[in-house]
Amino acid sequence: MRTKIVAGNWKMNTSVAEGELLVRQIDFLLKDNTAPVEVIVAPPFTHLVSIASILKDNDSKVVLAAQNCAYKESGAYTGEVSVKMLKDLGCKYIIIGHSERREYFKESNEDLKQKMELVLNNGMHPIFCIGENLQEREENRHFEVVAEQIKDVLYSFKGADVANVVLAYEPVWAIGTGKTASAAQAEEMHAYIRRVVADKFKGYADEIPILYGGSCKPSNAQEIFEGDNVDGGLIGGASLVAQDFVAIIKALV
Ligand code: 13P
Repeated sequence: MRTKIVAGNWKMNTSVAEGELLVRQIDFLLKDNTAPVEVIVAPPFTHLVSIASILKDNDSKVVLAAQNCAYKESGAYTGEVSVKMLKDLGCKYIIIGHSERREYFKESNEDLKQKMELVLNNGMHPIFCIGENLQEREENRHFEVVAEQIKDVLYSFKGADVANVVLAYEPVWAIGTGKTASAAQAEEMHAYIRRVVADKFKGYADEIPILYGGSCKPSNAQEIFEGDNVDGGLIGGASLVAQDFVAIIKALV
């Protein structure tokens, strides 16, 4: 059985106080929820210490992710945050290769490979984001682009490592645009992604959760999650409203 996951990527939003309130609300709304879903929040770095302590005090089942990490282990890299530091704070997951990082911060597949290696070597789980942009979809190159993103980064690892990876298919044209992939488009791509993973990691592909991300909200979550290969969601905007985030989580079961 693959783990079902809903992860909230807060991006560069909320003050610390707002983030603390948000996580308290999410935890409260999930208190009686026994559904087998791994619920993850990925607040900004600056919020991780206090949110980790709230989750601990509340004996919460919600777990922490970081939105990014350094591609080097430690040393003179001003402004960077290492995987070990994030592990220290209690992060279980780290988002790697979000399209905003690829686009605005010019992260290359080589950078992502180094990050992935550090995350895996530290016993944590990368949430590895892949997805085509609008032009690539319009040119009907979306399968090719996504396959390349997987091959360039994942194929150099061992199957046992890849078993610890979570994949997130986020079509760039659907992120923050209000435009979602249809349930059929999502399932078609997720099934394809699983085949590309299986080509190299036969015994592991069926165990890897593949999340959908891009304008997922309470009104469309259930339909998108119906696909056999859609194991949950990576949620941006809607994860900033506790009721909406929890409604998406409940739509998964
Ligand atoms: P939105 O849900 O705001 O479209 O963002 C998706 C996303 O980028 C999650 O990582």
